[in-house]
Amino acid sequence: MKIGVNIMRSGKDKIKIAPSILSADFSCLEDSIKAVKSTEWLHLDVMDGHFVPNITFGPCVIKSIREKSDHVFDTHLMISEPEKYAEEFAEAGSDIITFHAEAVDDPKSVIEEIENCGVQVGVSLKPDTPFDAVREYLPSLDLILIMTVEPGFSGQSFMQEVVPKIKEAREAVDEIEKDIDISVDGGISPKTAPQVVENGSNVLVSGSSVFKGDVDKNLKELRDSVK
Ligand code: DX5
Ligand code: ZN
Repeated sequence: MKIGVNIMRSGKDKIKIAPSILSADFSCLEDSIKAVKSTEWLHLDVMDGHFVPNITFGPCVIKSIREKSDHVFDTHLMISEPEKYAEEFAEAGSDIITFHAEAVDDPKSVIEEIENCGVQVGVSLKPDTPFDAVREYLPSLDLILIMTVEPGFSGQSFMQEVVPKIKEAREAVDEIEKDIDISVDGGISPKTAPQVVENGSNVLVSGSSVFKGDVDKNLKELRDSVK
């Protein structure tokens, strides 16, 4: 089992790309993952058909790809009752487990539950959820995941109106001088990435812009856009 081994090289000072396998070809997932082996992270979108109106995959898929990849596994739980499943997702090989603030009554206890599994902890915010929903928990977090589409599907358009929240998150993180990754997810492409980075994000989650067409070319364009 590779729990936590990759986090050592996650370095929060550089821009990291996290391709979302939701847009990959699931009939040859291993090939799709190898095609993005140059990226630092792999983004794993877990959906339960309850918190969001779509169903994807669970711990057994993550476990089976863990041995095929050296990426940091960035697991994005779009599920109800994430606390019930944290341990399973950690054991499957997640390095970071992110849950949605909107999915729980007591974020602090879920943060502790995930911490106790020995992995890093993230909290995600839907486009309409204000940054204040997570502010008080910052000292306990490793990552904030800001959604720039409604969670549930890849291929949606970037929501420009969320950009000020990225800046707000960056200012709050800098204020407490803690190394917290600020990840942005939804509609990220070479067109939208520059403003996201300018406003303080250091992790770019990208699904359709990476996996649609020529992956090498797409990754190069995405990286070049934020150089
Ligand atoms: C949406 C997921 C995203 C999605 C991004 O709910 O959380 O990670 O895969 O896909 P694109 O980059 O196509 O918007
Ligand atoms: Zn995601």
